[in-house]
Amino acid sequence: MDLDPLEPPLKWAGGKRWLISRLQPIWQHHASCRLVEPFAGGLSVTLGLRPKQALLNDATTHLINFYCWLQSGLVITIPCYNDPAQYYDHRQRFNELIAQGRADTKEAAELFYYLNRTGYNGLCRFNRKGLFNVPFGRHACIRYRTDFTPYAAIFGAWRFQAGDFMAFPIQPGDFVYADPPYDGGFTAYAGKAFFWTDQVRLAQWLASLKVPVVASNRASKRILALYADLRFHIALIDAPRRIAANGSRKRVKEMLAMNLLARGCVPSSPFFLR
Ligand SMILES: C[S@@+](CC[C@H](N)C(=O)[O-])C[C@H]1O[C@@H](n2cnc3c(N)ncnc32)[C@H](O)[C@@H]1O
Repeated sequence: MDLDPLEPPLKWAGGKRWLISRLQPIWQHHASCRLVEPFAGGLSVTLGLRPKQALLNDATTHLINFYCWLQSGLVITIPCYNDPAQYYDHRQRFNELIAQGRADTKEAAELFYYLNRTGYNGLCRFNRKGLFNVPFGRHACIRYRTDFTPYAAIFGAWRFQAGDFMAFPIQPGDFVYADPPYDGGFTAYAGKAFFWTDQVRLAQWLASLKVPVVASNRASKRILALYADLRFHIALIDAPRRIAANGSRKRVKEMLAMNLLARGCVPSSPFFLR
């Protein structure tokens, strides 16, 4: 397989590219496994680890539709300009396709890419009717990619699926990396919030799996207690500083939780909880 570095094709909130150097020492012990990501998001981890086989799921159906079109070598043919009039035209057309039940088309995938690059902060937000409502982004300059054919060879060996994280059976030979919306952070990606009950449902589901599991999350007190009670090994890591709503920069601790079947350790973690 060609191992040229490939950038994640979209901007996506919560991307964990910065965590790859911590995940790699664990993944190297399991690299022959199928990588299962129930919260695949912007694929920064998948593209960083480059598994031979992967099952990549996300609740945001438009995101998965875009990846499915990349599997067949998408080339963007719609006009792409960083211009508010064109942005709102394309947004309206995207919403027409959703309303017509044609959100799985190539045109919808192309529009989704354009809206992701051109909209405010790469946000993916929908109103109660399921229509995309992110405003124009006012970026100084955008480099649009039109030819996604280099992704086809790599994505071709991976399986994509849209739905809730619990919706697929885990098989022997899988390795699960779970990166849900942060506890207490931005959770409204797919138009549906990720509540504390979902965090508990996730942690319990992960604890029930008989394959190696690694999960990341914001290291809130209740998340640490939840995973420690379920007998995960826990490492704390300094996450990159994030810009808070009031403009201040907050230092955030990230949790990496591993079950007993996951081998390897997280380098330079300040401490381990048992
Ligand atoms: C933190 S992001 C994942 C980022 C990804 N690891 C990356 O590095 O790009 C969390 C993802 O969970 C998805 N999500 C939210 N609720 C979900 C659910 N119930 N089941 C599956 N995915 C969900 C969101 O659409 C979002 O893409």
